[in-house]
Amino acid sequence: MRSHIRSGSMGNARRRLAACAAVFSLAVAGGVVAAAPATAAPTQAVTTTAPAAVAQTAVPTTANPLPSVDPVGDPANLSVLVNKSRPLNPVSYAPGDLVNARGSGQYLRAEAAAWLNGLFQGAADAGTGGLAVVSGYRSYAQQQQVYSYYVSIYGQAQADLISARPGHSEHQTGLAVDVGNANGSCGLSTCFGDTAAGIWVAANAHRYGFIVRYPNGYTNVTGYSYEPWHLRYVGVDLATEMKRRGFPTMEQYFAGNPTAYASITSGADLVAADSSGRLLRYPAHGGGGYGIPSVIGSNWHGLKQAFVVDWDADGVYDILAQWDNGTLGLFKGWPGGAFSTQIVVGTGDWDKMTITVGKWSAAQGYPGIVGYFPDGGLRYYPNTSGRALSYRVDIGSGWAGMGLTMADWNGDGANDILAITTSGHLLSYPGNGGGGFAGLPATVGSGWGTMKALVPSFGLSGPGTRSITAQTVDGYLVDYALGVGVWGAQRQVGNGWNGMKLFR
Ligand code: DAL
Ligand code: ZN
Repeated sequence: MRSHIRSGSMGNARRRLAACAAVFSLAVAGGVVAAAPATAAPTQAVTTTAPAAVAQTAVPTTANPLPSVDPVGDPANLSVLVNKSRPLNPVSYAPGDLVNARGSGQYLRAEAAAWLNGLFQGAADAGTGGLAVVSGYRSYAQQQQVYSYYVSIYGQAQADLISARPGHSEHQTGLAVDVGNANGSCGLSTCFGDTAAGIWVAANAHRYGFIVRYPNGYTNVTGYSYEPWHLRYVGVDLATEMKRRGFPTMEQYFAGNPTAYASITSGADLVAADSSGRLLRYPAHGGGGYGIPSVIGSNWHGLKQAFVVDWDADGVYDILAQWDNGTLGLFKGWPGGAFSTQIVVGTGDWDKMTITVGKWSAAQGYPGIVGYFPDGGLRYYPNTSGRALSYRVDIGSGWAGMGLTMADWNGDGANDILAITTSGHLLSYPGNGGGGFAGLPATVGSGWGTMKALVPSFGLSGPGTRSITAQTVDGYLVDYALGVGVWGAQRQVGNGWNGMKLFR
């Protein structure tokens, strides 16, 4: 086992991060429980003055850049990632709930077919001239025929750009549909993308849970030529999240996590230090809960607070530690697991600050820090290099005593500051994506005074889902699903977390 010694240690204990992860019993701390009502959960009130949801079509600027969870392999899962390197498993998979889509004689899984109706209605209502179903479900054997046909006329290299091999096609999932103009023009041709219907589909399919799976310019990512007609149903949550966060392909959505071996792989993993200084990772399994925790470090004593963040934007989660001795330190996550020794990104008095970490300005490609000293002055510290902080910008006053976190409450692509007031109200201060605020705060909850920590979470309940996981003073973990300017379901996801320092 290699170990990394924190450099520039100012405390009496040197903090070491273990390179090997040891699994340990659930009984130790922070046990994971099935969903149940949380006794200490606050009530939430969505104010009528909450900003309206903004339909975002441009590439978002300040939302979390990392994906939610590892790629989904279950062929029956609506989020399954199927491509040249990820065949269906089993390769002979056939869905059990195929229905005749719009009476076309082409079949799709029931949920995809139902949402396709909405898509077709939307396209017609928009005056595009309407859509037609061209091709839906194809079995392994049918895909074999299609692929062989293309090989026979174009040769294998060209065929591989336009047709999946059997066992590798999304059409075999029952979730892919090729669409065309109702009048038949530009059928299965790239010019479909330039027709009114093709343009409308590219801009609006996500509202019905579909994505254009092989967009123009991403052949090196997907392995296929531009197919403006090939729509893949992934559900509204994931399709909207991909649009909002600017992921053009499923490969990019899932592959921002190239590092299945990193110590922290998901934006929904929980990381916490226990009272004996061990650093624990509770891996999110994408189904709403956590797997067996593993130890990813030791001797994490003397923490005021720590944050899980991709500080240097290299696609691997890092840890930013705010020590009781006033140092702010970065532990860079390695793709193969474990962390760097500490890189000091700030010194002096950081122990006196209350901070939250995240992308606060589009001008910086890296997440920064927003926080206040006991004087209540709110400051933004940009991170312009993925390493040290640059000069602070004063962005507010009167913040003393507030509990802070950063999340895109209103879903406009720019992070907002969620603050717990001394009276226990939860306020959302809308960020403008440019390092400042976009307007007045909205009250989005009450009774939050019993919360010790709020952790923004990405993908806990599946790809595309967002939530705030809260640690109550009496040791419960409660997850609050985030909609777009509205709360979704809340449920208890843990107990026994007293004494755990939950990373944010
Ligand atoms: N045309 C797509 C790539 C398929 O065959 O699944
Ligand atoms: Zn297709």
